[in-house]
Amino acid sequence: MKDIYVGDARLHVEDQGAGPPLLLVHGFPLDHSMWKHQIRQFAGKYQVIAPDLRGFGGSDIPHETVSMDDFADDLVTLLDGLHVEKAVFCGLSMGGYIGFRFAERYPERLTGLILCDTRAVPDSAEAAAGRETTAQMVLTAGMAQLSQTMLQKLFAPATLKANTDEVVAMREVMENAHPEGVAAALRGMAIRPDSTALLSHIKVPTLVIVGEHDAISPPDEMETIAKAIPGAEFLQVPAAGHMAPLEQPEPVNEAIAQFLEAHSPAR
Ligand code: MLT
Repeated sequence: MKDIYVGDARLHVEDQGAGPPLLLVHGFPLDHSMWKHQIRQFAGKYQVIAPDLRGFGGSDIPHETVSMDDFADDLVTLLDGLHVEKAVFCGLSMGGYIGFRFAERYPERLTGLILCDTRAVPDSAEAAAGRETTAQMVLTAGMAQLSQTMLQKLFAPATLKANTDEVVAMREVMENAHPEGVAAALRGMAIRPDSTALLSHIKVPTLVIVGEHDAISPPDEMETIAKAIPGAEFLQVPAAGHMAPLEQPEPVNEAIAQFLEAHSPAR
């Protein structure tokens, strides 16, 4: 891991391997370690860049609100800091929300886009209000309750029942997440714009991946996203929930490998 400054904030970043760059952007309220299977597989042929976003993991903790645009700005500054001109951007859930903002603001920095278990629509007024309630809760009472409720939503029922190493690890990441960083991201997600109109304007090769049991970004909704992006490929992953790349790394890595081979080949 290395530290890279993006403006006033220090980001903790996994930067492994050499070759065409692959940027892995984690979901909420997690950190880069959710990509452990992808880092392991792709660092042999690619430059794999997996940051802890501002407020998460080992990165600096912001106050108030971090919008999806702020995160996208951090990532472009991170790429600048690593002298990376273009990357395949792979984001899960909140990482996908950031991916949409990145695609809109910095299309020239993208070789391709991989959208895992994410949504194009914004929060309803009710969901946005719920985020503020959750932000207040974590700021006053810590991460215990949010970790418990999130865990049930992140994984497929069978994965939870098996209590795999991945489930144990993500529980720990969430329990140790910093309340101020979590609250800032919750407020940022609550104000994220509708990305639906952007979809037909995405010009880079795109792969859309979803776990068949994803309760947060259901397969039907993700298939609609894939259909709206010109030429996008769609993969539904059996026996996975919202954390498809962590729960079922084999089919996910195979799809990513084929996508990279086609659109960002290693020499
Ligand atoms: C995530 O996995 O990043 C979150 O479920 C996104 C969200 O809360 O909307």
